[in-house]
Amino acid sequence: MNILILGSGGREHSLAWAVAQNPKCDRLIVAPGNAGIAKIADCVSLDIVDGVAVLEFVLKNAIDFVIIGPEAPLAAGVADVLRAADVLCFGPSQAAAKLEASKFFTKSICDAVGAPTAGYGHFTNLQSAKDYVYKMGAPIVVKADGLAAGKGVIVAMTLQAALEALENMFGGEFGSAGTEVVIEEFMDGEEASYFILCDGTDVLAIGTAQDHKRAGDGDTGPNTGGMGAYSPAAVLSDAVAEKAMTEIIKPTMAEMARRGTPYQGVLYAGLMIKDGVPRLVEYNARFGDPECQVLMMRLGAQALDLLIACAEERLSHVKVNWAEDHALTVVMAANGYPGTYTDGSVIGGLDALPTTSSNMCFHAGTAQSDAGITAQGGRVLNITARASNLAEARAQAYGMVDKIDWPEGFCRQDIGWRAL
Ligand code: AMP
Ligand code: GLY
Repeated sequence: MNILILGSGGREHSLAWAVAQNPKCDRLIVAPGNAGIAKIADCVSLDIVDGVAVLEFVLKNAIDFVIIGPEAPLAAGVADVLRAADVLCFGPSQAAAKLEASKFFTKSICDAVGAPTAGYGHFTNLQSAKDYVYKMGAPIVVKADGLAAGKGVIVAMTLQAALEALENMFGGEFGSAGTEVVIEEFMDGEEASYFILCDGTDVLAIGTAQDHKRAGDGDTGPNTGGMGAYSPAAVLSDAVAEKAMTEIIKPTMAEMARRGTPYQGVLYAGLMIKDGVPRLVEYNARFGDPECQVLMMRLGAQALDLLIACAEERLSHVKVNWAEDHALTVVMAANGYPGTYTDGSVIGGLDALPTTSSNMCFHAGTAQSDAGITAQGGRVLNITARASNLAEARAQAYGMVDKIDWPEGFCRQDIGWRAL
């Protein structure tokens, strides 16, 4: 098969790494990719949110299967353009990707099926939103309805912070994503992510993970896209996962199908778990980044078979072959991230790292220059290891981190602390 992956981060590097190991993969192209991906696939420049351009590329290069990594092409309807042309594609339609692209849409689906989630109000003007916040009090959570690159959620511990968030959102901080706002009850508990392949009819769980959203050790400092992750997540026990499946995920999938917008792709359910009871925080219509890196390391080559079965609506015929393993990834970011940082510093020591089925350095934001591999973005490397227990996976990952010579970068020293 000729396979095209859309995206350029650590998520896409790990997808490419797993896919390339499967003998079904003859040729692998990633658009646009990065310097790490270029070592295992052909990287091409392509406007990945332009469905027509992607389709043209697919036809010209005899691509048999397209895997869409990030949310932007999904929200732009790239999967729709491909499916309409009978191109096999992994990723939900624009209508189904609304589960990520609109917080209010997801809340209304939860209402329709009675899925446990935070109580909420939905507002299109500042004054009524403020009135609601005054009525409910703090802590309270203010969310821009649309896609805001992971920055549209303010967990307000004080009334003042909530009101300020509302002023900013209605003042245009997130553009059109913030012209509608969802205000939610603050949920207490431990958060974990559940990843489920959905083919429109059937579902198949492919793993659990926990990430670390804050920039600093001990979960302090500003929010980021994720500074590290591990899988499996102990808090998402079999019993909790089963509950989430029957009370949240399957009803959501049934409702999407009933509305004529069946969901096909990976569903990433962010759950808040308290006393063994899961409630939905949010859905994403894609793999998490860096959660995907630990999932791919655990699944390996079979990931491609599972993604194809999902796209071909054959999930009821496949199963996951689990090993009793644990994977952990440490994100190395440019100094200053998630604030301002500079691109272009040279990263040394990469050649000394192992590249095995249980030790990989996935590239999240790198470029090749004459001086070597350089940083290109906030999150730059995902140092990932797999072992028979989490402590060993963590020791191996940090052992790899120690080999990297990059004074302009940093990482958290405590990934996995909650579980260890
Ligand atoms: P989201 O983009 O919806 O995942 O929100 C980002 C983060 O905000 C989540 O991962 C949670 O840590 C936090 N969060 C979102 N909604 C709530 C809520 N209702 N209660 C508590 N924390 C929340
Ligand atoms: N790591 C969080 C996300 O991918 O949304």
